[in-house]
Amino acid sequence: MDLIRLFYIVPFVLLVACGSRKNVEEEKHRFDESIVVSAHQLASEAGAQMIKKGGNAADAAIATNFALAVTYPVAGNLGGGGFAVIRHAGGHTAALDFRETAPDAYTDSVFLDSNGNVVPNKSLFTVFAAGVPGSVEGMWQLHQNYANLEWSTLLQPAISLAQNGFALSENQAKRLNYYAEKFTELNDSNQCYLIKKRAWQAGDTLIQPELAAFLNRMAKTGRAAFYEGTHAKDLVKFIRAKGGLMKFEDLKNYRAVWREPYEFDFNGHHIISMPLPSSGGVLMHQILRMAELMKTDLRALPKDDYIHLLAEFERRAFADRSRHLGDPDFWDFPIEEMIADSYLLKRIANINMNRASNSDSIFPGNLPYESMETTHFSVVDHDGFAISITTTINAAYGSGIFVPGYGYLLNNEMDDFSAKAGVPNMFGLLGSDANAIKGEKRPLSSMSPTIITQNGQLKAVTGSPGGSTIITTVLQSIINLTTLGYEADASVGLPRFHHQWKPDVLVLEQAMVNDSLVALLTKRGHVIDTTYQLGNVNSISVNKNNELVAGADKRAENAAVIIK
Ligand code: GLY
Repeated sequence: MDLIRLFYIVPFVLLVACGSRKNVEEEKHRFDESIVVSAHQLASEAGAQMIKKGGNAADAAIATNFALAVTYPVAGNLGGGGFAVIRHAGGHTAALDFRETAPDAYTDSVFLDSNGNVVPNKSLFTVFAAGVPGSVEGMWQLHQNYANLEWSTLLQPAISLAQNGFALSENQAKRLNYYAEKFTELNDSNQCYLIKKRAWQAGDTLIQPELAAFLNRMAKTGRAAFYEGTHAKDLVKFIRAKGGLMKFEDLKNYRAVWREPYEFDFNGHHIISMPLPSSGGVLMHQILRMAELMKTDLRALPKDDYIHLLAEFERRAFADRSRHLGDPDFWDFPIEEMIADSYLLKRIANINMNRASNSDSIFPGNLPYESMETTHFSVVDHDGFAISITTTINAAYGSGIFVPGYGYLLNNEMDDFSAKAGVPNMFGLLGSDANAIKGEKRPLSSMSPTIITQNGQLKAVTGSPGGSTIITTVLQSIINLTTLGYEADASVGLPRFHHQWKPDVLVLEQAMVNDSLVALLTKRGHVIDTTYQLGNVNSISVNKNNELVAGADKRAENAAVIIK
């Protein structure tokens, strides 16, 4: 048993031994319910099953994560990576980084041609796009440190869903059909069961026998089934046959990293989020501190002023992101300087409430709203143990490349690096040397799983997919939950907006668009774009009556399961 577990379990055992039964019950069950809220009903149910079996939030999170790899192939994964932010019932916090790493042989020219130009789509739809996957190792670490149930038990729901199949929703069928050409172009159609001769229809059963067999092996032998032995050899052989550079040692040496969470205070609340290589924690801190330093009451602002002001903060924070942030294991980052009041005061000094700043030039090309895929789920158990996990294969269905014989998709996370300074990635984000590619380095991320406390008590768990829009989406979720008085159920449905410095565009969700709002913002000089959807938030909050409130975003088929 490792030290973290020992630290939390021993005091609990002593409490049981010394306290009266009533006190122990009161101490143990802080809430009358546990909640799992994820992108798929069956994945939330998988987590709920673990709670019913006596598992805790970690057990539920691991089962949900594996079930998403089966039922939500657009973003759930074995072949990707992610981040977990944890707040144990006892108050201890931790952050788990299971982000993909660049294969050891990668250099900063891996996506450039002989003239030094970026090769179109090489970081997106080729085997080079894939970083060494971290998801299985991440779940293994979570299990070793926090879970109650056996590892094999946690994989059973996923195995059964892959083996017996599940019914596709209309939206899932449509999406698979939309990507069918891409799957056919990138895969041998006999080996990729996401390809169907006729179009997929709502209600079709998706059965994934190879994935079931692989999960079964993983249930028996743990992380080694992925990172060593036959699978690792086969994966490397497959990638190298296509010219890729991943080696067996890259898989064998992959490790998830436990990091100190990024923690800061905002408006009487304590925010616990993800540190580098996520840019989410520090950018949200910058933006929220700028808001405090402006001494403006966000609750009192008219909508156009509110959007204008936050967009101005976002513009400045994203500009800093492009220059200063990357993998902390490879670079010293000036975080203290970035969040110093003296620096932020200078940054906001030129904000004009009547005029949008200019991000220098409008960058050509639109943000690819269609493919901002990633998935977020939140779990709180009866004890108040909270876990916030965001996981991804980057684009929708990642690289689109299916690993033959194993039934999962490879990520295209290498596109999150800066392939060349000044050249935007899929999300329109610019980068610098700080986020240049190097062997074993992790690409800078925007994923921002977050937990909020108030007066030392759990207040909320939140997070979202959405590429670069994750940060601004989670930011608005934090403001809704801490400042504007919403609980999770109402907060997730509120319309959202986004600015990321470059391209110099203010994106509004259609649900908030009306002529007068657009006119007021355009008059200030904002270039407005609209989109159907920004992010997809799955939150849980604690209301005044100490009840857990689920917030499953209705923008997609998210589902909350409440376990009494
Ligand atoms: N792949 C999107 C992100 O990590 O920000």
